[in-house]
Amino acid sequence: MTPVTRAGRTMAGSDPPPVRIAVAGAGFMGRQHIALIHESPRAQLVAVADPSLPDPTEIGCPVYPGVEAMLDAARPEAVVIANPNALHVDTALVCIDAGAAVLLEKPMASDFASSLRLVDTVSRRRARLLVGHQRRHHPAVARAREALGEEAIGQLVAVNGLWAARKDDAYFDDVPWHRQRGAGVSLINLVHDLDLLRHLCGEVAEVQAMASTHARGLDVEDTISVGLRFESGVVGSFLASDSGVSPWGWDQATEETLAFPYIPDGVAYRLVGTRGALSVPNLALYTYEAAVSPDWHSPLSRTYLPFAPRNSFQAQLDHFIDVAAGAAEPLVSAEDASRTLALVEAATLAAATGTTVDLARFRDDIAWSDGA
Ligand SMILES: NC(=O)c1ccc[n+]([C@@H]2O[C@H](COP(=O)([O-])OP(=O)(O)OC[C@H]3O[C@@H](n4cnc5c(N)ncnc54)[C@H](O)[C@@H]3O)[C@@H](O)[C@H]2O)c1
Repeated sequence: MTPVTRAGRTMAGSDPPPVRIAVAGAGFMGRQHIALIHESPRAQLVAVADPSLPDPTEIGCPVYPGVEAMLDAARPEAVVIANPNALHVDTALVCIDAGAAVLLEKPMASDFASSLRLVDTVSRRRARLLVGHQRRHHPAVARAREALGEEAIGQLVAVNGLWAARKDDAYFDDVPWHRQRGAGVSLINLVHDLDLLRHLCGEVAEVQAMASTHARGLDVEDTISVGLRFESGVVGSFLASDSGVSPWGWDQATEETLAFPYIPDGVAYRLVGTRGALSVPNLALYTYEAAVSPDWHSPLSRTYLPFAPRNSFQAQLDHFIDVAAGAAEPLVSAEDASRTLALVEAATLAAATGTTVDLARFRDDIAWSDGA
């Protein structure tokens, strides 16, 4: 008889057995991972660790108060870590020690220095670790990268982006870590955008920034404006705020999470090139129509680059299962995500000091003082 998975789908006889996955942290994000694991015919949810001890009948598997107890009892092949940022590195180290593959939510650590401990362990232990910058798994992002590689907009000149939404007050009032150092709009939201800008435009050489706590009056910033110079010479800017109403940002432009209203044809990033412009993730491509001497006086045409829609969290889970099985290298490695974290932290430093921060020097200084 053909076996039936939890999701009720049938598996062909030659399919490998589902990967036995546990989840550490069953809050807002952990529950989304739990639902995705239940839906996947390639995964089986075997355990959850969360000190708040959610109801196992609701979660659909045994629940443990801590990660160590969960690892001892359930021996999962893979763990999705979705606990508070400050616990990410230690939790990942314990899971790696237990021989499990890890999908670690972003940011991979609450600071760049501690991310380096994890980068080092992953490399020494040849651990399988994927960082949860799920937007990189979105098909529009892969298509945008392809278009840039084919020079569909000529040579990249500049990039600009925006993410803004008014988070509910309870998000800060009810969850203490959301208003403490190690969170804030930079580490919770901007980190995704800067990761994607690195993925699309390459490494950043220098960063400038201005941050504000004006709208919410918390210790952590609620709004930040960042200026970027990429190693290629491209310049860019990004504005992020968790305190203002807006239709602009990745989360509104995709149907990835029900927490945001969906704005069809929405834009998160604008890429400006010598022969065209491309907005992401709607993939509107603008070029001048004139066959001879196309320039700013020519009419502009707009076409949309086609791509097959796919939810990036689902695509990320599928990829994680391949990583756990040793069949794929992580699309977002610890080393790669650590560079994104360095960029966020450098932006915070630039905002605090009013200086331009050189990324290579910033990373070297911290790596040196960390190792010294
Ligand atoms: N990828 C994304 O788009 C995305 C979106 C939201 C949040 N996140 C990330 O997911 C993580 C969780 O965020 P959230 O919004 O779900 O927070 P949350 O506060 O809703 O959930 C965190 C959960 O972790 C639990 N927890 C606390 N200590 C723990 C421990 N020692 N072991 C196991 N569990 C523990 C808490 O009880 C809580 O249930 C954060 O790192 C956040 O940055 C990612």
